[in-house]
Amino acid sequence: MRVLVTGGSGQVGRALQAVLQEHEVLAPPRAELDVTDRNAVLTLAAWRPDVIIHAAAMTNVDGCEQDAEAAYRVNALGTQNVVLLAQRCGAELCYISTDYVFDGEKGAPYWEWDPPNPLNVYGASKLAGEWFVQTLLDRFYIARTAWVYGPGGRNFPRKVLELAAQHPSLSMVTTEAGHPTYAPHLARALVQLVQTGAYGIYHVVNKGCTTRYELARAVLDAAGRRDYPLEPITSYPRPARVPRRVELRTSTLRAVGIELPHWSQGVAEWVKAEGWAT
Ligand SMILES: NC(=O)c1ccc[n+]([C@@H]2O[C@H](COP(=O)([O-])OP(=O)(O)OC[C@H]3O[C@@H](n4cnc5c(N)ncnc54)[C@H](OP(=O)(O)O)[C@@H]3O)[C@@H](O)[C@H]2O)c1
Repeated sequence: MRVLVTGGSGQVGRALQAVLQEHEVLAPPRAELDVTDRNAVLTLAAWRPDVIIHAAAMTNVDGCEQDAEAAYRVNALGTQNVVLLAQRCGAELCYISTDYVFDGEKGAPYWEWDPPNPLNVYGASKLAGEWFVQTLLDRFYIARTAWVYGPGGRNFPRKVLELAAQHPSLSMVTTEAGHPTYAPHLARALVQLVQTGAYGIYHVVNKGCTTRYELARAVLDAAGRRDYPLEPITSYPRPARVPRRVELRTSTLRAVGIELPHWSQGVAEWVKAEGWAT
């Protein structure tokens, strides 16, 4: 396969390159391919990719809330540009979307076909990207993932360990739950998915839904900081509203024979890969 990966220097972009070693891959970082630049994106039609995995996005949820214009420019209109490229060169598109398209109020796990209702600009801008994909293309995969962390990335587990190194104790919310997803597991599943030809909407997350508090505890424990004091709290002020509990069913993914390991395995692998393990 000839695979174009947008956002090549991001957590998922890098994990994808590691999995795609046997394929022909072009994975430019933002400095070489800004997805908001339509002309630059469309010139890649000449490279004739078979598959485009669109991993570039403005992922800072609070940053999106504070600069909605930028969030929609990158996540919605940038995706439109990548969709137009896929149209132009007849490539399949895999668009990486988010659990934040849901409001987290369902009280039960979300099906892939449940109606979205984003609470924040990030979720709304990623959903706008889904609409461009769904309305303009026939051959696409929408892969919604959640709480992604990978080696070398800026992510929640890294923040927890860095803060724990600076402060005598930390507090974490028990009122926000989702699926922590390890970028290398996600990348492996995406590469399997784009080889199925079974186009549609997928939830691609590690097994198990947990809270920020439980995840932080697991990360600290895995890094050998079992005695570090972590206090459970129920609210934390921040610019963006985030969903309370987004548990995702993975019915369409399992139907094509793909499953990700439990999130705790991802934490163990991440801690080891980052050299935090004891
Ligand atoms: N991270 C999560 O928790 C999470 C959760 C659900 C879904 N997702 C989705 O998963 C995908 C991959 O996320 P990730 O975790 O790999 O995030 P990431 O590490 O922040 O990577 C995103 C990449 O996109 C690049 N980018 C930003 N604006 C761009 C632009 N205008 N043109 C080209 N590239 C641009 C960033 O470059 P710079 O670093 O130079 O800005 C970065 O390399 C995204 O679509 C995201 O929405 C992520």
